[in-house]
Amino acid sequence: MPARTLMAYATRNGSTQEVAAWIAGVMREAGVTVELMRMKEATEFGGYSTAILGAPLYLGRMLKEFHEFVELHREPLSRMKVWCFVLGPVENKPEQFAEAERQAREQLAHHEWLVPEDVRIFGGLWDVKRMEFPFKLMRWLPASKVPAMDARDWEAIGQWAEEIAVQIVAQNQHVVT
Ligand SMILES: Cc1cc2nc3c(=O)[nH]c(=O)nc-3n(C[C@H](O)[C@H](O)[C@H](O)COP(=O)(O)O)c2cc1C
Repeated sequence: MPARTLMAYATRNGSTQEVAAWIAGVMREAGVTVELMRMKEATEFGGYSTAILGAPLYLGRMLKEFHEFVELHREPLSRMKVWCFVLGPVENKPEQFAEAERQAREQLAHHEWLVPEDVRIFGGLWDVKRMEFPFKLMRWLPASKVPAMDARDWEAIGQWAEEIAVQIVAQNQHVVT
């Protein structure tokens, strides 16, 4: 039986969920059995050899949903190979990516037992139409003042997913033979 991979994400406005679904799709195409779930809806789990964990940054922090999930499921996660992706910069500027990387590393350091194979920063989405109160009030400003910005690079995301899939498939073959 092929080893199963957990793809768990935290989100506030949905863009991380879309990235998680994209990664899961690419990995399934590559032959990996992936189960996609939202962190706050996850119940007890077991039987996964690998996990991909994704969360966005808000005001320098990864969502509480992420922190609660990793601590609640510390025991099974500490036995898995884990990859992390973090959404943040809404503009394709190196300084924004560097700052997001710093924020993500600082946040992950709260869980010193969690040692990911890789932590990748991806651009995020800024779209006031999809935001919660009070940010959604900005949608009533002239559109030019709050244009939507989508820095998600689907090709780069897909490439990262393929790289992980290759490793998981190779690892499974190694286990079977
Ligand atoms: C109020 C607010 C604060 C944010 N703070 C940060 C931040 O500190 N660092 C960062 O890199 N991105 C920040 N972002 C960008 C988000 O991480 C980005 O919009 C992401 O795509 C949101 O993910 P979600 O749609 O899954 O909730 C912020 C976005 C908003 C709306």
